[in-house]
Amino acid sequence: MPTFRRPAGVPFRDRFGTPLVGAAPRLLLLGSGEIGREVALEAIRLGAEVVAVDRYANAPAMAVAHRHHVRDMTDGAGLRALVEREAPDVIVPEIEQIATDELVRLEDDGWTVVPRARAVRDTMDRERVRRLASRTARVRTSAFAVVGDPAAAARAAREIGYPCLFKSMMSSSGHGMTRVDGPSGVAAAYRAASGEGRVVSPRIMIEEFVPFDHEVTMLALRHYDPTGTVRTTVMAPIGHARPGTVYCESWQPHRLPPPVVRSLRAVATAVTDLLGGVGIFGVECFVRGTEVYFSEVSPRPHDTGFVTLGSQWNSEFALHARAILGLPYQGPEPAVPAAARVLLARGSGWAPSVGGLTAALADRRVRVHLFGKPEAHPSRRLGIVVARAATVTAARRAVRRAATLIEATIRIEYPTPSREAPPTGTDPTGSHPPGLPDRHRKAPKGDGPTEDRPSAPPPSARSPGPNHPDRRAGTT
Ligand SMILES: Nc1ncnc2c1ncn2[C@@H]1O[C@H](COP(=O)(O)OP(=O)(O)O)[C@@H](O)[C@H]1O
Ligand SMILES: [Mg+2]
Repeated sequence: MPTFRRPAGVPFRDRFGTPLVGAAPRLLLLGSGEIGREVALEAIRLGAEVVAVDRYANAPAMAVAHRHHVRDMTDGAGLRALVEREAPDVIVPEIEQIATDELVRLEDDGWTVVPRARAVRDTMDRERVRRLASRTARVRTSAFAVVGDPAAAARAAREIGYPCLFKSMMSSSGHGMTRVDGPSGVAAAYRAASGEGRVVSPRIMIEEFVPFDHEVTMLALRHYDPTGTVRTTVMAPIGHARPGTVYCESWQPHRLPPPVVRSLRAVATAVTDLLGGVGIFGVECFVRGTEVYFSEVSPRPHDTGFVTLGSQWNSEFALHARAILGLPYQGPEPAVPAAARVLLARGSGWAPSVGGLTAALADRRVRVHLFGKPEAHPSRRLGIVVARAATVTAARRAVRRAATLIEATIRIEYPTPSREAPPTGTDPTGSHPPGLPDRHRKAPKGDGPTEDRPSAPPPSARSPGPNHPDRRAGTT
């Protein structure tokens, strides 16, 4: 029986104690990727105590937290044990792969989850969030249907019309999503959507394809104002480009006619007010002509919002930290022209390194953030370049130039082509202890200087297979 009982929710705060020795608010960060690292840094700047959790060691936020745990957060019992042990004031889900039903039970027991456990659970499921948005918040969405077998999929696609999109119910970065242009594409698209999501499930979503003119993220912050009243403040639109479906570049402000911006703000406010709680939400919308469509929402900082590190005085991470710690904020938040571009790995392996930094940083408008992830795999984000400039166009040009210079130099010190074929130097017996490589042995081979290079990656450095958690959607 839980002994901890108090109404869940972030209280309005005016005073903090000291971390570790006093009564600073304690944050339990579930997910310690690059977004978690920024949130942890901002929370620590405000005087909070931060405990970082992820399923692998040396995750980005662990480098800045007061302490950390390596845990599988999809294990509900383990998650509860961790919460009871750490007794956090605020549980902060930063990734989707969490036992969200357990989060709801924890919240019912009086623990505080931000923005709210039900918002975290509901936004993971495309059907739930679509129904909430279209039926309850009454915002426009593309036509959609949820089906459970290939025959129903074929009927729904015919009704919705071609082209349409087949999507997994739970996924991110476009995993399992296919554009279907006619009946001949239905079977393969159904297989992909039902088999490649975060969970294998016969239920999939079919969506009308919206030939949008603009795709934007509206960052909506639910926060206390100085009088202690919860309000919603929506930031300037963020534009983004995603060749394929992986986020690549974003910029703010994305210029649109004022009435369209008003509609976008109204949609973002309606959806986030329905989800409730406090914190930042990334509301993904399409604009077609003057019409605004709601697409989906993250109840946490959004990856396209990295641009706010350059464009806003208070970044999305700073705003999130402030709101979830119960501190007041008064918008609006002005935005100056800035852009962000991700640095993606191409290969798989242990201990990636990047070069080109001198050339990239020669442009004084550019800032480079490297995430320090111990392991790379294709399209995994290893860092981000942010630039502020006189115009969005100039900022985009600056980040593209810098990112191209850096990306061309990414080297994976211990490439791991496949699970079956461990790289040269990997101890075939697997007896090399897990953890950081031994930096004092000679490197096996390589094209750069060999001193101070680890000799072999630990067994955990082998390339993740298709079901390895790092291969799944939403890897941080
Ligand atoms: N109905 C749609 N019409 C046109 N493009 C879409 C539609 N839904 C998604 N997309 C495109 O696919 C991308 C990924 O889709 P999204 O639903 O956001 O999935 P994920 O959860 O994987 O991010 C979007 O950012 C957008 O570019
Ligand atoms: Mg999306």
